[in-house]
Amino acid sequence: MSFFKKDQMLVVACAFGLESLVSDELRKLGIEDVHTENGKIRFRGGEKELALALLWLRTADRIGIEIANFKAESFDELFDQTCALPWENWLPVDAVMHITGRSHKSKLFSVRDCQSLVKKALVKAMQRKYKHQTLPETGALYKIEISMLNDVATLTLDCTGASLHKRGYRSDAGDAPLKETLAAAMVLLSRWDPSRTLSDPCCGSGTIAIEAALIGLNRAPGLKRSFTAETWPDADKKLWQSLRAEAQAQELPGDFRILASDMDSKVLKKARQNAINAGVEEQVGIQTLSLGEFRSRKKFGVVIINPPYGERIGERTIVEMLYHDLKALMDEADTWSYFILTADHELETRINRKASKRRKLFNGKIPCQYYQFWGPLPWSKE
Ligand SMILES: C[S@@+](CC[C@H](N)C(=O)[O-])C[C@H]1O[C@@H](n2cnc3c(N)ncnc32)[C@H](O)[C@@H]1O
Repeated sequence: MSFFKKDQMLVVACAFGLESLVSDELRKLGIEDVHTENGKIRFRGGEKELALALLWLRTADRIGIEIANFKAESFDELFDQTCALPWENWLPVDAVMHITGRSHKSKLFSVRDCQSLVKKALVKAMQRKYKHQTLPETGALYKIEISMLNDVATLTLDCTGASLHKRGYRSDAGDAPLKETLAAAMVLLSRWDPSRTLSDPCCGSGTIAIEAALIGLNRAPGLKRSFTAETWPDADKKLWQSLRAEAQAQELPGDFRILASDMDSKVLKKARQNAINAGVEEQVGIQTLSLGEFRSRKKFGVVIINPPYGERIGERTIVEMLYHDLKALMDEADTWSYFILTADHELETRINRKASKRRKLFNGKIPCQYYQFWGPLPWSKE
């Protein structure tokens, strides 16, 4: 028996502000009917769609199967409705059941109590179905989340394992590394393509440059890692293998170069190692340079940076120097486009320029603006 249905409700979780990017990525995978909410995208699909999304989504955090959604204002309601669900449709008799939880604006606010109650209800349902007094819990891991929001309980079976931003290449991060998913989003929003020079002159551990290289190579971000759903006993191993092989065959030639530089040579050691781990050391050139020293003879290039925000003690002077150098660069390389992620709401005043567009994004919990200064496009000058 297969626990994977052809037509399940799959839920993708992502950072606030990235929903439309995730939806676009899903559409590119041929998944049309996507429904977007705050931090969530739902679509219907089977194991193939799930595997494709896990392998290919660059901007999402995790994917789960939504098992049920119901009103629960008391523990009895939560228990009874959880217990009534046909859990045997998803979980084998030897499943290791791990319950996680969260609660927001709900009468059932104790996450611990919700978790332990869901576990009890789940065990009771499984014992009833499989006619076992005790469940061995010796098989594959099934992580179920109970999420309470406005007194509605949602039960989701996680298919991901470690969050999707963990591509498997980052052995070492800098002081304030960007999540890989956010770095990929910044590159996708810049509409960069490998025919244009790309540079991150404040690259830290190199996340933006590495994610851009993976995009330029059309390399599936999940190729180097595994996912919980493929460890389940009923997973179609051949399907996963063939989707990985197809992904590899879709890789494009890497005849482009991305410039990654930073004034801190120590952090660049980490960037180098990360680029090697990601297999993009040919595409990412790493150099110790301050922004003031960075210049390129190329035209119509793209700069994407995540500078320090100037919030930590002693950082303000570094940031002021950086803005001064950035302004000079923007004056000089005026055919380039500039994309800057910062929590500094005064950026436009400080560099005396109005952004073509701004977009609210979150760097972890920090609300930021993604300032976009569009230069001319290469073909508009031909
Ligand atoms: C927030 S961190 C970037 C983190 C990076 N995106 C990552 O994922 O690891 C900011 C970086 O800007 C660098 N930086 C600050 N001022 C600079 C300047 N004037 N020139 C070059 N790099 C600078 C710092 O050394 C630091 O590595």
